[in-house]
Amino acid sequence: MPTSAILAKPRKDAGWWRTSVIYQIYPRSFADGNGDGMGDLQGVTSRMHVLKELGVDAIWFSPFFKSPQKDAGYDVSDYKDIDPLFGNLEDFDNMVAKAKSLGLRIIVDLVPNHSSDQHKWFQAALHSAPGSAERNRYVFRDGKGENGELPPNNWESVFGGNAWTRITEADGQPGQWYLHIFDSSQPDFNWENQEVQDEFDSVLRFWLDRGAAGFRIDVAHGMIKVAGLPDVIHHSSTMSGQDSPDDVKTTESEEELIARLEKENPFWGQPGVHDIIRRWRSILDEYDDRVMCAEAWVLPLSRMARWVRPDEYHQTFNFGYLETPWNKEKLEKVVTESLEVFGAVGAPSTWVLSNHDVIRHATRMAYNQIPRQGDGVGPNYEQPDEARGQRRARAASAFMLGLPGGAYIYQGEELGLPEHTTLDNKYRQDPTFFRTKGERVGRDGCRVPLPWEAGANASNGFSTTGESWLPQPDSYRRYARSEQEGTPGSTLELYKRLLKERKAFDMGNGEFRWAPEFMNENTLAYINNGILVLANFSGDPVVIPAGEILVTTQHDLRLEGELEHDQVVWIKL
Ligand code: NOJ
Repeated sequence: MPTSAILAKPRKDAGWWRTSVIYQIYPRSFADGNGDGMGDLQGVTSRMHVLKELGVDAIWFSPFFKSPQKDAGYDVSDYKDIDPLFGNLEDFDNMVAKAKSLGLRIIVDLVPNHSSDQHKWFQAALHSAPGSAERNRYVFRDGKGENGELPPNNWESVFGGNAWTRITEADGQPGQWYLHIFDSSQPDFNWENQEVQDEFDSVLRFWLDRGAAGFRIDVAHGMIKVAGLPDVIHHSSTMSGQDSPDDVKTTESEEELIARLEKENPFWGQPGVHDIIRRWRSILDEYDDRVMCAEAWVLPLSRMARWVRPDEYHQTFNFGYLETPWNKEKLEKVVTESLEVFGAVGAPSTWVLSNHDVIRHATRMAYNQIPRQGDGVGPNYEQPDEARGQRRARAASAFMLGLPGGAYIYQGEELGLPEHTTLDNKYRQDPTFFRTKGERVGRDGCRVPLPWEAGANASNGFSTTGESWLPQPDSYRRYARSEQEGTPGSTLELYKRLLKERKAFDMGNGEFRWAPEFMNENTLAYINNGILVLANFSGDPVVIPAGEILVTTQHDLRLEGELEHDQVVWIKL
């Protein structure tokens, strides 16, 4: 049993981002405004009011910048323009104006670790000589072996295969190699280069001046590599460099552990990255209340907390929490640890369960053994138990949204959307699938366009024409927004209620403690600002304590005062 010590206290100076619920839009798949089967900014603007109704505070957009779309926009060829696939800068301005009128903020994605190979700088590097200033903006090296035919070191791409690609020089001969921690179309920048640093300062200002409330920073634990580019000691193709979150269980001191992890993964989580973060933070601080949220896959959480020290990022996605299964002991541990380690640096915990890189939690939680981050679930895999996934996902969301701090929700989770686990391989686009020759199906299954109106057309109203860049599974018709809007007990109405009560009782800025007095060996309970949140993990129903039931994940409220398994209730004591 946990103690009932207070683990979080309300702050007087709580900036909006400390408590906000931020909705992630994956622009390709939110809403298609022009009928070409690809989501776009006009589509977002026309449907944005539903996010206001849902009750979120801000929207983070995955990249919509100019890009050859080799990694769905995380391969940027022009950081200061919108890709025609999604619209243009005027569409962006209109979208910001619409958001403002609804009281919503817009956060854009910054992709600083790498550009597209079509970026003008990389093209210039290809056409310049080894050792030139143009090459020095990226990470070019001579190969090993008699004729430079071997890659400069043993680094592997997160998407599979080698992290180096050899180019052909101007004389037609095989030449130097360039580094790409992701796809070969995504060359890594050389962040030791002043020119690269200056360029990104100007990218930040460009979007801040245009009304962005801030940035989600892609691969915020990348950018800096150990000098001399030594070999990796422990290979893992996850974004944390660890095969599973449990890999970091250790008896070493924290300093020893971090030193070891920095050494084992010479391109993840290097100390030099903090200088870059501080530089960006000082730019944001010139503006009013802008924010940055780090995508830093570093564990343990005490290490991740270094990304949100007072002069660094405001938020960092709590991936330790995301990777925690629906399990009483593990959840208790990760919540306690999160509140302690982030609290120690004066930062909130930023809770998250789903995004465009992981299996949707309505599917993930249906499994007892969670597949590795980035692997996906394909048609030949064991298929999930849909009902169990739904039950647990609703409970997990209700458990998360009662916690103090900020939270991110990924488009479609408010509909309870499952992963598309039977997507035909002919539709796959994720470079992971191609670079691993299909061994890992990758992330397409969580990126499928949203169903808006059941049966309106083949895309359930995602686009007016029924076109859709990835097909929806049949089940999406049942999950369509039109089926859930106003339907008591639907996941959409559950989310609305959770967000409403969370705001009403200021739970984002709450006083939090575990409530052992309400717990037995199968339940977990906490009290946040006077609201009791109780979760039942077992098959045995438990009696719901006295008080006003504010919200419950149970469909049937006439259950005579008992909370069933994999259910959560919020009670005003
Ligand atoms: C993290 C992004 O979330 C992911 O989608 C992308 O593939 C990699 N970074 C590379 O930019």
